Amino acid sequence: MITGAAGGIGRAACAAFWAEGAAVAVVDLAGVDPAVEQLRATASTTATGQVEGWTVDVRDPVAVTKAMRNIHDRLGGPHVLVNLAGGSLGTPRDLDAITPADLDLVLDVNVKGTFLCCQAAMPYLIEAGGGAIVNTSSIGGRQPSPVTGVPYAAAKAAIVGLTKRLAKEVGPRGVRVNAVAPGLVLTDRLQGMFDAMDPGGQREVLDAIPLRRMPELSEIVEPILFLASEAAGYITGVVLDVNGGRFMPL
Ligand SMILES: NC(=O)c1ccc[n+]([C@@H]2O[C@H](COP(=O)([O-])OP(=O)(O)OC[C@H]3O[C@@H](n4cnc5c(N)ncnc54)[C@H](O)[C@@H]3O)[C@@H](O)[C@H]2O)c1
Repeated sequence: MITGAAGGIGRAACAAFWAEGAAVAVVDLAGVDPAVEQLRATASTTATGQVEGWTVDVRDPVAVTKAMRNIHDRLGGPHVLVNLAGGSLGTPRDLDAITPADLDLVLDVNVKGTFLCCQAAMPYLIEAGGGAIVNTSSIGGRQPSPVTGVPYAAAKAAIVGLTKRLAKEVGPRGVRVNAVAPGLVLTDRLQGMFDAMDPGGQREVLDAIPLRRMPELSEIVEPILFLASEAAGYITGVVLDVNGGRFMPL
């Protein structure tokens, strides 16, 4: 089950899991049908599982619980939950422009939505004999970033606490809980923003990245696949920084 599955990273994640032979539940607030159609149209030869879509607001506990049961009935599992729904969601960056509604939106989708999906998925993950959750923090939740606002930084730092605390609680039941913390990823929306910057501004962004380039989408998705896979069977409570070396905690 992938939330935020119709988004830039979400679509790529769905395609990658599907190519691995997984049955994929495409969950988003909007754009689910085109995402499912696109996925089916570009099916790789290794994609053998089913793919189905669910339009769900991850902030709504009743809708999340209902969708989870429905996903279980239709596709089995879930054995893996990837929480990508989130972002700064069009809210302003500067403090004096942020309204209480902006703050609620960012915290509710990123933190409450992640919490509710984890909570609703847990009985199924445990029933399946253990499973994996991959949450989505951000470089903006790992160090102060001028690119996004205070609510986003708070939400993405909260995802780190949520992930680690939950990992401790459900580890004994065989469920692993980890997070990825991507740096800037040029999905369609952000590519436009980057392209609009003058060459000096672009250079400055790239100079802050030791690898001196933006990631391919696959370079964000592969770490998610890894954390979800048996190859990461002894890894839980970890935040994997995927940022070209821009943020390097000791
Ligand atoms: N793109 C980046 O540079 C970047 C960097 C670090 C972290 N991230 C994180 O990765 C995740 C995916 O980012 P993206 O770039 O693909 O963004 P995106 O905006 O393309 O996708 C986010 C998706 O979440 C969905 N969504 C929003 N509110 C929802 C709700 N209430 N219920 C269900 N779905 C909802 C949107 O419809 C959208 O499809 C986000 O959590 C984002 O914060 C992105």
